[in-house]
Amino acid sequence: MKQVIAFAASKGGAGKSSTCQIVAEVLSHHGQVVTILDGDPNEPQVRWRTGTSKLPITVIGDITENNVVKHINAVDEGYVLIDLEGVASRLVARAIAKADLVVIPFQASTLDAAEAGKTINLITEEEEIVERKIPFKVMLSRTSPVIKTRLETDLAAQLERNGLPLMRNQLNERAAFKSVFAYKTSLYELDPEKVNGIPKAIENAEAVTKEIVS
Ligand SMILES: Nc1ncnc2c1ncn2[C@@H]1O[C@H](COP(=O)(O)OP(=O)(O)OP(=O)(O)O)[C@@H](O)[C@H]1O
Ligand SMILES: [Mg+2]
Repeated sequence: MKQVIAFAASKGGAGKSSTCQIVAEVLSHHGQVVTILDGDPNEPQVRWRTGTSKLPITVIGDITENNVVKHINAVDEGYVLIDLEGVASRLVARAIAKADLVVIPFQASTLDAAEAGKTINLITEEEEIVERKIPFKVMLSRTSPVIKTRLETDLAAQLERNGLPLMRNQLNERAAFKSVFAYKTSLYELDPEKVNGIPKAIENAEAVTKEIVS
Protein backbone atom coordinates (compact mmCIF):
# COMPACT_ATOMS: atom_id res chain seq x y z
CA MET A 1 0.00 0.00 0.00
CA LYS A 2 1.23 3.46 -0.95
CA GLN A 3 0.23 6.83 0.48
CA VAL A 4 1.16 10.05 -1.29
CA ILE A 5 1.31 13.22 0.82
CA ALA A 6 2.12 16.57 -0.78
CA PHE A 7 3.28 19.58 1.23
CA ALA A 8 2.11 22.68 -0.59
CA ALA A 9 1.63 26.37 0.18
CA SER A 10 1.88 29.25 -2.23
CA LYS A 11 3.69 31.24 0.41
CA GLY A 12 7.47 30.92 0.75
CA GLY A 13 8.77 29.99 4.17
CA ALA A 14 5.47 28.54 5.37
CA GLY A 15 7.15 25.42 6.71
CA LYS A 16 6.67 22.94 3.84
CA SER A 17 10.21 21.57 3.84
CA SER A 18 10.43 21.43 7.64
CA THR A 19 7.10 19.66 8.04
CA CYS A 20 7.90 17.22 5.23
CA GLN A 21 11.26 16.35 6.80
CA ILE A 22 9.90 15.97 10.32
CA VAL A 23 7.01 13.74 9.21
CA ALA A 24 9.46 11.63 7.17
CA GLU A 25 11.69 11.15 10.20
CA VAL A 26 8.84 10.10 12.50
CA LEU A 27 7.43 7.64 9.96
CA SER A 28 10.84 6.16 9.18
CA HIS A 29 11.78 5.92 12.86
CA HIS A 30 8.61 3.87 13.39
CA GLY A 31 9.53 1.45 10.64
CA GLN A 32 7.61 2.83 7.68
CA VAL A 33 9.14 2.90 4.21
CA VAL A 34 9.56 6.58 3.29
CA THR A 35 10.49 8.26 0.02
CA ILE A 36 10.84 12.03 -0.21
CA LEU A 37 10.55 13.68 -3.61
CA ASP A 38 12.40 16.96 -3.19
CA GLY A 39 10.62 19.47 -5.40
CA ASP A 40 11.97 22.50 -3.52
CA PRO A 41 14.42 24.32 -5.84
CA ASN A 42 16.85 24.66 -2.91
CA GLU A 43 16.77 20.87 -2.44
CA PRO A 44 16.90 20.92 1.39
CA GLN A 45 16.00 17.23 1.57
CA VAL A 46 18.77 16.22 -0.83
CA ARG A 47 21.25 18.19 1.27
CA TRP A 48 19.88 16.60 4.45
CA ARG A 49 20.47 13.13 3.00
CA THR A 50 24.19 13.88 2.56
CA GLY A 51 24.43 13.90 6.38
CA THR A 52 24.84 11.11 8.90
CA SER A 53 21.26 10.03 9.71
CA LYS A 54 20.85 6.27 9.83
CA LEU A 55 17.14 6.48 9.07
CA PRO A 56 16.54 4.69 5.76
CA ILE A 57 14.68 7.58 4.12
CA THR A 58 15.09 7.64 0.33
CA VAL A 59 15.42 11.17 -1.05
CA ILE A 60 15.05 11.84 -4.76
CA GLY A 61 16.13 15.23 -6.11
CA ASP A 62 15.84 16.98 -9.47
CA ILE A 63 12.06 16.70 -9.31
CA THR A 64 10.42 18.54 -12.18
CA GLU A 65 6.98 18.77 -13.78
CA ASN A 66 8.20 16.25 -16.34
CA ASN A 67 9.28 13.51 -13.94
CA VAL A 68 7.22 13.94 -10.75
CA VAL A 69 4.41 11.58 -11.81
CA LYS A 70 6.92 8.95 -12.98
CA HIS A 71 8.71 9.08 -9.63
CA ILE A 72 5.44 8.78 -7.69
CA ASN A 73 4.34 5.83 -9.81
CA ALA A 74 7.72 4.11 -9.41
CA VAL A 75 7.28 3.70 -5.64
CA ASP A 76 5.50 0.45 -4.70
CA GLU A 77 4.92 0.82 -0.99
CA GLY A 78 5.12 3.11 1.99
CA TYR A 79 4.85 6.87 2.16
CA VAL A 80 5.77 9.21 -0.67
CA LEU A 81 6.23 12.70 0.74
CA ILE A 82 6.52 15.53 -1.77
CA ASP A 83 8.23 18.75 -0.70
CA LEU A 84 7.02 21.44 -3.09
CA GLU A 85 8.14 24.91 -4.12
CA GLY A 86 6.34 27.99 -2.82
CA VAL A 87 4.63 28.94 -6.08
CA ALA A 88 1.69 27.68 -8.09
CA SER A 89 3.43 25.78 -10.87
CA ARG A 90 2.72 22.81 -13.10
CA LEU A 91 4.95 20.72 -10.79
CA VAL A 92 2.78 21.63 -7.81
CA ALA A 93 -0.42 20.95 -9.77
CA ARG A 94 0.79 17.50 -10.85
CA ALA A 95 1.89 16.53 -7.36
CA ILE A 96 -1.48 17.63 -6.00
CA ALA A 97 -3.29 15.63 -8.70
CA LYS A 98 -1.48 12.49 -7.50
CA ALA A 99 -1.81 13.14 -3.76
CA ASP A 100 -3.90 11.18 -1.26
CA LEU A 101 -3.56 14.16 1.06
CA VAL A 102 -2.28 17.72 0.68
CA VAL A 103 -0.92 19.35 3.83
CA ILE A 104 -0.87 23.16 3.69
CA PRO A 105 1.42 24.56 6.38
CA PHE A 106 0.83 28.13 7.44
CA GLN A 107 3.09 30.31 9.49
CA ALA A 108 0.67 31.57 12.11
CA SER A 109 2.50 34.83 12.74
CA THR A 110 2.21 36.25 9.22
CA LEU A 111 -0.68 34.71 7.48
CA ASP A 112 -4.12 35.54 6.50
CA ALA A 113 -6.64 32.97 5.43
CA ALA A 114 -6.67 34.25 1.83
CA GLU A 115 -3.17 32.78 1.36
CA ALA A 116 -4.42 29.28 2.10
CA GLY A 117 -7.20 29.98 -0.35
CA LYS A 118 -4.75 30.13 -3.28
CA THR A 119 -3.47 26.63 -2.66
CA ILE A 120 -6.98 25.36 -2.06
CA ASN A 121 -8.14 26.85 -5.39
CA LEU A 122 -5.39 24.91 -7.09
CA ILE A 123 -6.55 21.73 -5.35
CA THR A 124 -10.14 22.38 -6.48
CA GLU A 125 -8.97 22.80 -10.10
CA GLU A 126 -7.05 19.53 -9.96
CA GLU A 127 -10.09 17.78 -8.47
CA GLU A 128 -12.03 18.72 -11.62
CA ILE A 129 -9.32 17.24 -13.81
CA VAL A 130 -8.88 13.96 -11.95
CA GLU A 131 -12.59 13.67 -11.06
CA ARG A 132 -12.02 12.71 -7.44
CA LYS A 133 -11.82 14.51 -4.13
CA ILE A 134 -8.29 15.41 -3.03
CA PRO A 135 -8.29 15.64 0.77
CA PHE A 136 -6.37 18.53 2.27
CA LYS A 137 -5.62 20.01 5.69
CA VAL A 138 -4.29 23.37 6.76
CA MET A 139 -1.66 23.19 9.53
CA LEU A 140 -0.41 26.11 11.57
CA SER A 141 3.37 26.09 11.78
CA ARG A 142 5.99 27.78 13.93
CA THR A 143 3.48 28.43 16.70
CA SER A 144 4.52 28.92 20.29
CA PRO A 145 4.25 25.73 22.35
CA VAL A 146 3.15 27.79 25.36
CA ILE A 147 0.97 30.70 24.27
CA LYS A 148 -1.79 30.85 21.77
CA THR A 149 -1.70 34.23 20.02
CA ARG A 150 -4.73 36.32 19.15
CA LEU A 151 -3.75 36.01 15.48
CA GLU A 152 -3.86 32.23 15.75
CA THR A 153 -7.31 32.28 17.29
CA ASP A 154 -8.56 34.73 14.64
CA LEU A 155 -7.05 32.68 11.87
CA ALA A 156 -8.59 29.46 13.10
CA ALA A 157 -11.98 31.19 13.23
CA GLN A 158 -11.54 32.54 9.66
CA LEU A 159 -10.66 29.10 8.34
CA GLU A 160 -13.57 27.54 10.16
CA ARG A 161 -15.97 30.14 8.73
CA ASN A 162 -14.72 29.29 5.24
CA GLY A 163 -15.18 25.58 5.91
CA LEU A 164 -11.45 24.85 5.62
CA PRO A 165 -10.16 21.91 7.61
CA LEU A 166 -7.57 22.96 10.14
CA MET A 167 -5.37 20.36 11.80
CA ARG A 168 -5.78 20.02 15.54
CA ASN A 169 -2.02 19.73 15.99
CA GLN A 170 0.45 22.43 14.99
CA LEU A 171 4.16 22.24 14.36
CA ASN A 172 5.60 24.45 17.08
CA GLU A 173 8.60 26.73 16.68
CA ARG A 174 11.45 24.65 18.08
CA ALA A 175 15.21 24.72 17.77
CA ALA A 176 15.22 20.97 17.12
CA PHE A 177 13.19 21.42 13.91
CA LYS A 178 15.81 23.80 12.50
CA SER A 179 18.67 21.68 13.81
CA VAL A 180 17.78 18.59 11.79
CA PHE A 181 18.72 20.56 8.66
CA ALA A 182 21.68 22.35 10.26
CA TYR A 183 23.22 19.07 11.50
CA LYS A 184 21.80 16.98 8.64
CA THR A 185 20.47 14.36 11.00
CA SER A 186 17.13 13.32 12.49
CA LEU A 187 15.27 14.43 15.60
CA TYR A 188 16.07 11.02 17.10
CA GLU A 189 19.81 11.39 16.48
CA LEU A 190 20.39 15.03 17.51
CA ASP A 191 22.94 15.66 20.23
CA PRO A 192 21.13 16.83 23.42
CA GLU A 193 24.32 18.65 24.41
CA LYS A 194 23.93 20.88 21.37
CA VAL A 195 20.15 21.17 20.99
CA ASN A 196 17.56 22.01 23.64
CA GLY A 197 14.14 20.48 24.01
CA ILE A 198 14.53 17.38 21.86
CA PRO A 199 11.97 15.21 23.77
CA LYS A 200 9.28 17.92 23.49
CA ALA A 201 10.05 18.35 19.80
CA ILE A 202 9.70 14.60 19.23
CA GLU A 203 6.41 14.57 21.11
CA ASN A 204 5.10 17.42 18.93
CA ALA A 205 6.41 15.83 15.72
CA GLU A 206 4.79 12.49 16.56
CA ALA A 207 1.42 14.11 17.33
CA VAL A 208 1.48 16.03 14.03
CA THR A 209 2.49 12.92 12.09
CA LYS A 210 -0.17 10.77 13.74
CA GLU A 211 -2.85 13.26 12.76
CA ILE A 212 -1.58 13.49 9.16
CA VAL A 213 -1.42 9.72 8.77
CA SER A 214 -4.88 9.19 10.24
N1 LIG B 1 8.55 24.47 13.37
C1 LIG B 1 9.65 25.19 13.13
N2 LIG B 1 10.51 25.50 14.15
C2 LIG B 1 11.61 26.24 13.90
N3 LIG B 1 11.95 26.72 12.70
C3 LIG B 1 11.14 26.46 11.65
C4 LIG B 1 9.96 25.68 11.81
N4 LIG B 1 9.36 25.58 10.60
C5 LIG B 1 10.12 26.25 9.74
N5 LIG B 1 11.20 26.79 10.35
C6 LIG B 1 12.25 27.62 9.73
O1 LIG B 1 11.61 28.58 8.90
C7 LIG B 1 12.26 28.72 7.66
C8 LIG B 1 11.29 28.38 6.53
O2 LIG B 1 10.83 27.04 6.73
P1 LIG B 1 10.78 25.99 5.53
O3 LIG B 1 12.03 26.04 4.73
O4 LIG B 1 10.35 24.70 6.11
O5 LIG B 1 9.58 26.63 4.68
P2 LIG B 1 9.15 26.32 3.17
O6 LIG B 1 7.68 26.51 3.15
O7 LIG B 1 9.69 25.04 2.72
O8 LIG B 1 9.88 27.52 2.39
P3 LIG B 1 10.15 27.64 0.79
O9 LIG B 1 8.84 28.14 0.21
O10 LIG B 1 11.23 28.67 0.72
O11 LIG B 1 10.53 26.30 0.29
C9 LIG B 1 13.47 27.80 7.73
O12 LIG B 1 14.58 28.57 8.14
C10 LIG B 1 13.12 26.80 8.81
O13 LIG B 1 14.26 26.31 9.49
MG1 LIG C 1 10.87 24.53 1.12
